[in-house]
Amino acid sequence: MNRSNWPGWFITMEGGEGAGKTTAMRKLAQRLEDRGLDMVMTREPGGIAISEQIRSLILDPAHVSMDPRTEALLYAAARRQHLVERVEPALQRGAIVLCDRFVDSSLAYQGYARGIGMEEVWDINRFAVHRTMPDITLWFDIEPEEGLERIRANRSREVNRLDTEQLAFHQAVRQGYERLARQFPDRIVRVDASQSETVIQEQIIDILSERTQDFGPRMCK
Ligand SMILES: Nc1ncnc2c1ncn2[C@@H]1O[C@H](COP(=O)(O)OP(=O)(O)O)[C@@H](O)[C@H]1O
Ligand SMILES: [Mg+2]
Repeated sequence: MNRSNWPGWFITMEGGEGAGKTTAMRKLAQRLEDRGLDMVMTREPGGIAISEQIRSLILDPAHVSMDPRTEALLYAAARRQHLVERVEPALQRGAIVLCDRFVDSSLAYQGYARGIGMEEVWDINRFAVHRTMPDITLWFDIEPEEGLERIRANRSREVNRLDTEQLAFHQAVRQGYERLARQFPDRIVRVDASQSETVIQEQIIDILSERTQDFGPRMCK
């Protein structure tokens, strides 16, 4: 497995809408915290002023005409700022960083589903992330219909522009993730996200304990 140069562990959550990424990440974060581990839970705008402003531009329902390349560049810019302000300092001090979506979202959504091309989106993202890629990426895989139904069933979750895309788009996103998982088998691990929250958490613990030498045993006690 390719391990980044940082003392900490960088773990990202990926997958379609309603797959249960945020739910599972919070549960995992609680577990790590209960065990006294240094943990940072984040997502890309993450309260970082520059990234928050960029993100609100992207997700504004008024901006339906945004060009796909503009969108990809904006995501990469927001990513860069969040990475240097939030993620890298935590990795530097040895923390476990849990990040809700990262570079694979751009590759699957903009690169594959929107048809820009994964290679081209990777080119600008390589510039943005520079040296910091995730150590482990958990891919929450679920039938798009099922994920979207979960969101519909829970009205308290904010509905954003991506949630209202056509089903075909979400199916393409899933295909994009499938490709990525085949391309980066050392980094990306599939989680069967159709399972219950408890079973998903067990899958995650198994994956992490298998793939992390230092915090794995401490996490599982
Ligand atoms: N394993 C699960 N089984 C059934 N429902 C779930 C599961 N995980 C999450 N949910 C519910 O599905 C909805 C979407 O979950 P969320 O974690 O927000 O997904 P995501 O962050 O991947 O979009 C929420 O209402 C959540 O309570
Ligand atoms: Mg979420």
